[in-house]
Formats: sequence, C-alpha cells, structure tokens
Amino acid sequence: MDAIQSPIVQVIGDLIRQVPGTISLGQGVVHYGPPRAAIEAAVAAVADPATHEYQGGLGIPILVERLNAKLKAENGIDAGRGREVMVTAGANMAFVHAVFAITEIGDEIILPVPFYFNHEMAIEMAGCRAVRVPTDDHYQLRLDAIRAAITPRTRAIVTISPNNPSGAVLGESSLREVNALCRDRGLYHIADEVYEYFTYGSARHVSAGSFAGAEAHTISMYSLSKAYGFAGWRVGYVVYPDRLASAMMKSQDTILVCAPVVSQVAAAAALDAGRAYSAPHVRELAEIRDLVLRELAALAPLADVPAADGAFYILLKLNAGSATVAAGRLDPMAIAERLIREHKVAVIPGPAFGMTDGCYFRVAYGALQKETVAEGIGRLATGLRAIAGS
Ligand SMILES: Cc1ncc(COP(=O)(O)O)c(C=O)c1O
Repeated sequence: MDAIQSPIVQVIGDLIRQVPGTISLGQGVVHYGPPRAAIEAAVAAVADPATHEYQGGLGIPILVERLNAKLKAENGIDAGRGREVMVTAGANMAFVHAVFAITEIGDEIILPVPFYFNHEMAIEMAGCRAVRVPTDDHYQLRLDAIRAAITPRTRAIVTISPNNPSGAVLGESSLREVNALCRDRGLYHIADEVYEYFTYGSARHVSAGSFAGAEAHTISMYSLSKAYGFAGWRVGYVVYPDRLASAMMKSQDTILVCAPVVSQVAAAAALDAGRAYSAPHVRELAEIRDLVLRELAALAPLADVPAADGAFYILLKLNAGSATVAAGRLDPMAIAERLIREHKVAVIPGPAFGMTDGCYFRVAYGALQKETVAEGIGRLATGLRAIAGS
C-alpha cells in the first residue's frame, strides 16, 4: 500500500476544508440527485424483509432484468449469450473484481495515459503492474504505443470513453482496433463506459462489447453514479464472458456478497426512468461545458485546452512563463495547493492520472450550478495567471 498513490480527491478535499469558500472543480460528481421514483422505491423497500437479507451475488432479479434490457437496447450487448451481468457496489468494484478475475501476481494491464487513478491503484493492489502508454495530443488512443507495450505478461487493455480525466470520446475505429488486438493476442478489453450518456455535439458513445466477436474477451463496466445522480447509493454493473463467472463470483462473494439491496431496488426504479432522466441534465452540462471551454481558451498561450466532447472534465496543460519554469515552480501539486489557499478554487493535479510529462490539471464542471462554475473558472484563470504567468 505504501507504493500506491493516496486517493487524490480526499487529499484535495482536506485542503478545501481548510479554506472555507473554496469552489471545488475537483470531484467528478453531478449536481443532481436520483429520480424521485428511485427514492420512493427505496423508502418502500425499507418495509420489505427481503431488503434486510443477503441476496444473490449477481443482483436482484428485477434489476438484472432491467439491466439486460438496457444493455440490449442501448449498448448492443446481448448479455444472455456467452456473457453474464453482475451488479456491483459501483464501477470501481467491478474493476477490482475484473483485475482479480483475470490476473496473477506480476501480470500487466495496459492503461492509456491519462487514466482513472483508481484503475492504477486497483492493479497495483492486486500485485500487478499498470503499464502506462501515451495518447496523442487530443488524448486519443495511439495503437502503435499500445501494441508496443504488449508483453507475455499482459492480460488486458483498458479504455475509458468518454474519458475521465480528459473528457475525450474515443474514436470508434480505435476502439474496434483495440478490441480486435485483444482478440488476436488473447487479452481482455476492459471498457469503462461510466460516462456513456455524457457526450456533446456530434460525439457519440459506442460500446466495445457490441462489436462482432467481442463477447469472448470484453469486460464492459457501467455505473448509475453519474447518469442517475446515484454516487452514494453505490450501484454499478459489469458484463463479462461466461468463462469468468466463477472467478468474478469468488471476488464478489468475498468483498461484497451482494450490492446493497435497498440500493438495488432504487436502481431498478431509476432504470425505469431511463436515459430520459439524465438527458436534460446533459443538455445543461453542454452549456456549462461551452462556458468553461470559452473561458479557458482565453488563457492561451498560458494554457492549452484540447477539445473534450464527453464526460464533464477538461484536462488543461499549463505552459508557464520561462521565469516560472526556470525557478522550478511548475509542480502541479504545489500549484493546486496555492490555487486553493490563495484563489479559493480547487482542481486535481495531473500526476494522479499519470500525466507527469508537463503540468496538467483536471477541471470538473459537473457538480456545480452554472453561475458557480463561471465564478470558479474565473478564479482559476486569475490564479493560474498569477502563479504561473510570469
Ligand atoms: C472512469 C471512471 N470509472 C469508474 C468510476 C467509479 O464509479 P462508481 O461510482 O460507479 O464506482 C468513476 C468515478 O468517477 C470514473 O470516473
């Protein structure tokens, strides 16, 4: 554990608590809560004795049924044919189960950089190695780099689309190439699709699990945390090839037994509300995203902000003035701390996502109302100019 990075959101959260009035563009959550019907279902479930008992490890039948229907209709995944669905306590747990299920100690899993920090943490906790590979200037996959990173110990390639922390929506052709590469080289393709509903403009989400022949080697993971404002209820789900069923259940039974039953009942009601529930919120986020991109673009040439068509993140690169660089003052963690202490705005420093070659910060715009985001971005721009503009 000593070798594994500390949860950065908690580290930044501690700093925020020390400086009241800080606007947090840090944590990756949405500003809305669950559908009303989900809360009502949870309240009703409290009176049901089944809520208080252990239930099957795969998930309660009414939820699994709805997930199967959703996967078929929206993701092009027929979970009944050679695959299985499991409800987990969030997609983080799904990832841990998958790593346990497919690796031995010393194995490698390829993570395109930037990655989601908990993925790297899970791989290292399992005694495996997270192999970082670069992406291009727009945070799109580089197949040459991925191919070159494969060794006899490689077990899987992870893709996250839409991406945390970059906001990039990965191109369908590159996802197809990764999926085919995994098939040809006997690897798993772990596709994290937690932000599937959060795309803007003409960007479209595509599920790797829908590609022909993908069922035998693709592990697809999803979450209700973002789509339904469900983060605290801890409900996610994962689809995997049948041959992993026994290994996945061993991990599930040991760590969780079953996802919290009351949360599963609420989740089933949320799925009834469906994608339509998040649609207006995503439209609202699209406006906030425009505002954020516009304001941050004005920071050029001090900062580069590549287009981000999905999720609710922007990964900006700080190109500080020569005096700052010469003075060695371009440490992202130190700058993040100064932004909080001196400018009352919080962002997440890039090294948490594997961005160590340059000074990067993730800006999250999902958790706040438009006016607050605008105020936060204003503080960020002022802060970056003051700290690194010389
Ligand atoms: C890419 C990605 N995967 C997984 C998760 C975890 O989601 P959950 O709340 O379902 O565990 C997150 C949460 O921020 C995420 O950004």
